[in-house]
Amino acid sequence: MTALVEVRGLHFRYGSGRRGAAAGWTLADISLALAAGGTLGIVGESGSGKSTLIRLMCGLLAPDEGTLTFDGRPVAGWLAAGRRAFLARNQIVFQNPRRSLDPRMTVARALAEPVRALEGREPGADELVAGLLRVGLQAEVLGRYPHQLSGGQLQRVAIARARSVRPAVLYADEPTSALDVSVQAQVLNLLMDLREALGLALVMVTHNLAVVARLTENVIVLNRGRIVEAGPTHEVLGSPADPYTAALVGAAADVSLAGAGWGAGGGGHGGGDGGAGGGGR
Ligand SMILES: Nc1ncnc2c1ncn2[C@@H]1O[C@H](COP(=O)(O)OP(=O)(O)OP(=O)(O)O)[C@@H](O)[C@H]1O
Ligand SMILES: [Mg+2]
Repeated sequence: MTALVEVRGLHFRYGSGRRGAAAGWTLADISLALAAGGTLGIVGESGSGKSTLIRLMCGLLAPDEGTLTFDGRPVAGWLAAGRRAFLARNQIVFQNPRRSLDPRMTVARALAEPVRALEGREPGADELVAGLLRVGLQAEVLGRYPHQLSGGQLQRVAIARARSVRPAVLYADEPTSALDVSVQAQVLNLLMDLREALGLALVMVTHNLAVVARLTENVIVLNRGRIVEAGPTHEVLGSPADPYTAALVGAAADVSLAGAGWGAGGGGHGGGDGGAGGGGR
């Protein structure tokens, strides 16, 4: 099986130029593979390098060492051949939609912009409306500005934007942590629905291990820029081999790992089977 995304021996540091001790790397010796349509969780405490890793995987940063390939071709080659094809196929949804969406752009403009920039065409109104409906929003939202929408609605707009250019991989960086608990479940369900409907691969960065357990088949655990554990999510979180992973799982259990259920009611706190050992889907 060929991986859609493959990372081999990646090293990265901010403000490089000066080569230092291995301890100076922001990310060191990162290797991973993601199949088309697959799911990968990235967990680790704040500052462990999660966002940096997905920025590298999306081509927003360049590695200092190691290789990154997408669809069998080096990312550097994709980017050199013109960034648009690569960026369209690798989209990110960020943590805070109020920051990621331009406050001066209506929803219609925000939705049209990636299609314009990456596909070089002007999407029709019906295309924009269809994109909104797919994320559970109505056509009337098109003329609104970000300040006229809730956080949950804005994150749906951000997801619709990412989706509009038909990516092969959707990277989600803490996509619900800036949202009200009551809408977090809905946004996660939406991501799962889109993934199934479009067959896209999902890379999910989150502090919430219950979310990772529920949404991802495989997980990597980062500690200070290194992968300390990787494998099937239910195995890694269910019986961690590394003490750092065990500590993360233990800390999550303290705040009720099973408590982040997002059943039909959304934001539910049903305990039970959603916990670390509950496995992905
Ligand atoms: N633009 C930057 N310039 C310099 N250093 C940075 C930059 N962005 C992040 N860093 C540093 O790189 C390390 C990894 O940061 P990163 O944002 O990838 O962590 P993270 O795991 O996403 O953390 P969080 O969970 O808080 O979002 C941290 O030490 C951080 O301070
Ligand atoms: Mg981050």
